[in-house]
Amino acid sequence: MHENKFEFSYKVYNSADELPEEQRSLLKKAQEVSEHAYAPYSHFHVGAVAKLINGKMVTGTNQENASYPVGLCAERVLLASASSQFPNVPIEVIAISYKSKIQKNDHPVSPCGICRQSLQEFESRVNHPIQLILGGMTGEVYVIDRAGKLLPLAFTKNEL
Ligand code: THU
Repeated sequence: MHENKFEFSYKVYNSADELPEEQRSLLKKAQEVSEHAYAPYSHFHVGAVAKLINGKMVTGTNQENASYPVGLCAERVLLASASSQFPNVPIEVIAISYKSKIQKNDHPVSPCGICRQSLQEFESRVNHPIQLILGGMTGEVYVIDRAGKLLPLAFTKNEL
């Protein structure tokens, strides 16, 4: 028997003001597009903005439904849109922010489990890491150099 260990490191900035200019402006755009979310049930409006390696920008927001499980997270809306508009073009970076209409927005939130699975597969199919910039409207910002880091021991197509 032996034990395996995963180590996971990421950058923590005290605020968006400390970010390099390009990352700061992507996060600001993610904050802005969160206004396009359709989230009348959770009141939790998520905005995501990607920059592709061809320089194009793609956005996504969460889209809820009265039949709750039908709802889609901002990250998967973004990935589906990127893949449809620019098939097989790698994504360099995604900034994700949120605005809850009922709670504070002062810390980063990270993608849910299903979105981690989707992000991981996107990275591996185009063979390019996706950097994540996570931040609320204020407060600390996390920068993760590869989305797949959020899903150790991922289930992949190699099993099928
Ligand atoms: N949501 C996202 O869009 N992205 C995440 O990473 C976490 C959750 C959405 C789904 C739902 O519309 C609302 O936030 C509350 O869960």
